[in-house]
Amino acid sequence: MNDPASHAVAGSADLVTAWHRLAGTCVLLDGFHALKHAVRFGAEVPVAVAADRRAALTLAEELAPDVRPALEALLTEVPERTYAALVPRPHPTAVAALAVRPSRAANLERLARTARSSPVVVLDNPRNLGNAGAVIRLAAGFGATGVVTTGTLDPWHPTVVRGGAGLHFATAVERLAVAELPPGPVFALDPEGDDLRGVRLPDDAVLAFGSERSGLSAELRARADHLLSLPMRPQVSSYNLATSVAMTLYHWSLGGGV
Ligand SMILES: C[S@@+](CC[C@H](N)C(=O)[O-])C[C@H]1O[C@@H](n2cnc3c(N)ncnc32)[C@H](O)[C@@H]1O
Repeated sequence: MNDPASHAVAGSADLVTAWHRLAGTCVLLDGFHALKHAVRFGAEVPVAVAADRRAALTLAEELAPDVRPALEALLTEVPERTYAALVPRPHPTAVAALAVRPSRAANLERLARTARSSPVVVLDNPRNLGNAGAVIRLAAGFGATGVVTTGTLDPWHPTVVRGGAGLHFATAVERLAVAELPPGPVFALDPEGDDLRGVRLPDDAVLAFGSERSGLSAELRARADHLLSLPMRPQVSSYNLATSVAMTLYHWSLGGGV
């Protein structure tokens, strides 16, 4: 491998300055896989570092040859201690980057389109950052149009981005009020609803899921066109939020969606 000298440790002081300047407005991509996904889905990455650039590029060759040229252009090697000082806790791949958050206007435009080919997932007042990240990863995997959260949780919180493995860039992720939800029939998931298995979910569906603590809000219930349940034996109270989203997106995909 022929690593250009310009990407070596020299100049890392400038890079650290640039990192700190950008960190307030950009999204942290923590680890090789987050950077790989973000690059693959078109994220703008102004700065990317690796404690061992050669090892990171070897990983790219093995696991993601499609993004290797982009990573070769992006990654700058920094000393291990410099890398460790840039991130909250070091990742096993010792790779980190900052990505520009997509504009809210662009996301809202994507969410507002009426001829959608895949659903929008709505998390109504979610509380758990890990769940939100897992749902964004699911939405990306199923090619969902977007993930909307209501309530106070920031779906771009660093912990959510970490859980989403860089896949925020593969779908439109925004926080909205219930009154601002995207157009389309709202199918709200609730253990008291009609059995999902008897229903075909359309591609323009808005699939809404309640909070881990209290389920669907009164406001979301009032907005729902259909209340649907997932198969579950009577003694069980409910499923985890992210697994409920997984089952519902899978059911949508069986209808010929993906
Ligand atoms: C952990 S559950 C919420 C439990 C909450 N204690 C409640 O009162 O509903 C989070 C969300 O997952 C979805 N969910 C979980 N189990 C479900 C089921 N059996 N049928 C339909 N939706 C379900 C619902 O949208 C629910 O609001």
